[in-house]
Amino acid sequence: MDEGGAALEAVRERLRDVRSVSALTGSGISAESGLPTFRGAGGLWGTHRVEQLASPDGFASDPQLVWTWYNERRAAHAQVEPNAGHHALARLESSVPDFTLVTQNVDSLHRRAGSRNVLELHGNLREARCNRCADIRPLEGGIAFEDFEHECGGRFRPGVVWFGEALPADVWEAAAAAVTRAEVLLVVGTSGIVHPAASLATHYAAPRALIVEINPEATPLSEYADVVLRGTAAALLPRIVTG
Ligand code: APR
Repeated sequence: MDEGGAALEAVRERLRDVRSVSALTGSGISAESGLPTFRGAGGLWGTHRVEQLASPDGFASDPQLVWTWYNERRAAHAQVEPNAGHHALARLESSVPDFTLVTQNVDSLHRRAGSRNVLELHGNLREARCNRCADIRPLEGGIAFEDFEHECGGRFRPGVVWFGEALPADVWEAAAAAVTRAEVLLVVGTSGIVHPAASLATHYAAPRALIVEINPEATPLSEYADVVLRGTAAALLPRIVTG
């Protein structure tokens, strides 16, 4: 499983003349940009309460607390840069005829690295959405507490997907279709425990697809991987993406 150089070389070779590739990324790919992951050492869910900050009920009970937290996260995203892992995936996209980047991240770092075909399964923090009329408002400078009330009677909430909410149907369908047709699926920096995102690797990848996990630690997706590269995204992705 973890043959180090031989495995890495095999993946690099496979990516040289491949037609269709998908990548599924999680917060781990942004760790080397300086953003915290959710689980594991220093993870956000180790110091913050998920149900309070990332759920419709939490927002209903204290919208100001939720906006404070998301405005802090937006500010943190703006203060960091995409890392070599993000840039490697953007380079890979330009050399593969059919490349789809499916991310669980809301930090926009893949877009800032130049990736174009990015499916944001869990939304993003570039905009807010009214929870009643679905009106969209850009979030350049965060949102002031006094103006998250919308004249329709609803409230603006961050444009992310919270626990208990459905993923945007069009985004999910495009992600499932892309992974199903991919000859190679790169699974990078995700603990693989949040569904339905994780099911892309366990249930949607084609039997013939080469599944490659890049993660310093084992995850529930490791057993589905044909190749496991135990290391970090910024160190390993540039080594499998040539050119
Ligand atoms: N390179 C690659 N992987 C890394 C790195 C790194 N430098 N650092 C950490 N990792 C791995 C960890 O080993 C872990 O498996 O990244 C993974 C991060 O897992 P989580 O913190 O659970 O993040 P993620 O999988 O993205 O969570 C999924 O959960 O809370 C929700 O909506 C949130 O989108 C998020 C979803």
